[in-house]
Amino acid sequence: MSENGAEHSVESKVANGAEWRVGPLDSCDARRIMSGGSITGSGAMAGALCEAMEARDGRVLGVMGGGTQGLIGYVWLARLPFDAEIQALGVMPDYRGRGVGNALISAACKLARRWQSERLLLEVRAGNVAAIALYRRHGFSEDGRRKNYYPAAPDSHDAGREDALLMSCALTT
Ligand SMILES: CC(C)(COP(=O)(O)OP(=O)(O)OC[C@H]1O[C@@H](n2cnc3c(N)ncnc32)[C@H](O)[C@@H]1OP(=O)(O)O)[C@@H](O)C(=O)NCCC(=O)NCCS
Repeated sequence: MSENGAEHSVESKVANGAEWRVGPLDSCDARRIMSGGSITGSGAMAGALCEAMEARDGRVLGVMGGGTQGLIGYVWLARLPFDAEIQALGVMPDYRGRGVGNALISAACKLARRWQSERLLLEVRAGNVAAIALYRRHGFSEDGRRKNYYPAAPDSHDAGREDALLMSCALTT
């Protein structure tokens, strides 16, 4: 995990007795993502995530656990002309429900504010109860809906498509 420069600061957090570091991921971390393959349902292909780590107009922030835990979650943030957008977010299944998602969204908001983005945007499957609750908790509200945008989720018994909710959070207030 890289630690250079103000935009690259690494924060330590302790929650539920476990210590994490939140900061930008580099190509070593990319290899872990490529080989791990268990951040499921996060909306990103490993290859795209690795390319995003090298891109000038985006950043991938990760949460590294202490000891041998390694990478336990990440958020991929794109910098747009006026806004920033969450492209993907995922927490390893064994580490969900412990505040890692909260830490990632807080870090994403902080970075987008540093970029002077006016809003943080995202889209999410309408049936993704956990992610929608996380986003609402951080002040996101619904701007619209794209009907039948996503193919049915891989773990769904429903063969039909699923709507996307478009959500945003103002960063300038
Ligand atoms: C969505 C996801 C990132 C949440 O991460 P997490 O580390 O479990 O979240 P946290 O433990 O920090 O919980 C934060 C908030 O999210 C909400 N939340 C998390 N899991 C939830 C669940 N199963 N049901 C309802 N709300 C939930 C709660 O509002 C919680 O607030 P609290 O801290 O007051 O309890 C995680 O479930 C995940 O990786 N899911 C698969 C990938 C995905 O759906 N990504 C989003 C794509 S848009």
